[in-house]
Amino acid sequence: STDPVEVRKFGYDLSVRLTTWGVTAFLVGEYTDEEIKHQPIFAIADGIIRLQNQPLGLHFQRYLDVLKLRGENYFTGLHPFEISETGIEVYPRIKMLKNLWMKTQVSQEKLSTGIPELDRMLDGGLQHSTATMVAGGAGTGKTLMGLHFIVAGILKGEPGVIVTFQENPQQLKAIAMSLGWDLEAMEKQGMLVHMYDSPVELQPDIHAAKVKAVVERVKARRIMLDSLKDIEIATPNKVRYKDYIYSLVNQLKLQGVTTIVTNEIGELFGPFQLSEYGVSFVVDNVILLRYVELSGRIGRAINIMKVRGAPHSKEIRFFEITSDGISINEVIEAQTGVLTGMPVFNNNYFNNNGFKELLNQSRNIMEILQGVEEMDINELANRTGFSPQELIHELENLKQQGMVITWESQNTTYYKSTI
Ligand SMILES: Nc1ncnc2c1ncn2[C@@H]1O[C@H](COP(=O)(O)OP(=O)(O)O)[C@@H](O)[C@H]1O
Ligand SMILES: [Mg+2]
Repeated sequence: STDPVEVRKFGYDLSVRLTTWGVTAFLVGEYTDEEIKHQPIFAIADGIIRLQNQPLGLHFQRYLDVLKLRGENYFTGLHPFEISETGIEVYPRIKMLKNLWMKTQVSQEKLSTGIPELDRMLDGGLQHSTATMVAGGAGTGKTLMGLHFIVAGILKGEPGVIVTFQENPQQLKAIAMSLGWDLEAMEKQGMLVHMYDSPVELQPDIHAAKVKAVVERVKARRIMLDSLKDIEIATPNKVRYKDYIYSLVNQLKLQGVTTIVTNEIGELFGPFQLSEYGVSFVVDNVILLRYVELSGRIGRAINIMKVRGAPHSKEIRFFEITSDGISINEVIEAQTGVLTGMPVFNNNYFNNNGFKELLNQSRNIMEILQGVEEMDINELANRTGFSPQELIHELENLKQQGMVITWESQNTTYYKSTI
């Protein structure tokens, strides 16, 4: 019937009968979004589950969402699902985890990065259950650094997971083999799982669920995600991308895994761009790899940008990649400009250690402030791992440079980035 009154009567009649019969009924139909809004049957139904298809890369992704569930709480939003021989599998949309700080186990254990000199720069290694971003231009050695970390764990009996979007299993095995690491043998021993996905067809919720399952299955202690840039490209919605990375990293922390994520930054030389580190607030530690030109020679440089709640080296050092992997060499004894790729030597500056310190801390603070409306000193201390006393000193400097403004409200001082 096309008569709305008659359809409504029929629907009402049907629902009354079904209720008196004591059955739980599933009514199935094909409707447009407009029809769902206006057709009376949807007003009568106790629950509405909508299934739909949306383009994702070169194929379509199925999604399920609950539009209504009378008298019950439900998880809103689009949840991807897949249909296979075993039926329907739903991957609930990844969501922000609350009260994370209470749930993560605080452990002072440090994990070796597999690069002895880097461990020393990190005051012993990477703290257990933390996340570290290795950021750098193409070819700087990010993937190799991640491999060092994973292999170091496996050699100590700690299972690892590698997630890549660029190198497929054959390519990664060949790269590792050129450094003397037999990934295939490690996989056969059940110590390593390599998950390779094309970024073109990445569905973040499904991906996160699969990563979680693999980590549980192999009881992984270490994971490398290579790289965030690929996930970013695959997730055009920027807010969604940040939420996703935040949720994934925190999920891994709750699982007790120590994480290295790589992130490709655009410029190889040239000035440092804070915006490139858009998601670095999510991670605890940031290691920066760069090309530098010194005395007409191009080399690679490494420095540790931040380590949450622990001391670390502030040095900028040369490093090399050989068939033995990454080896860290001498300190670059230039004072300014190393991170821009064009170091300037200045002994007066160099003798003033405080300046280097300020450079790193200020960056760290500005990076965090740029990601929020405003922040008070305690929150800032939490985020940076610096004490409020240290921060006040830095913030005063930044204020004088016009990069930060402050105001008071209810006995609290708030800081806001002006750039
Ligand atoms: N066995 C090896 N011996 C010497 N250099 C190597 C070896 N394997 C890789 N490299 C160097 O490492 C670099 C690539 O590092 P990689 O970690 O893939 O960079 P990224 O992930 O930052 O793009 C290449 O420039 C290559 O020259
Ligand atoms: Mg790489």
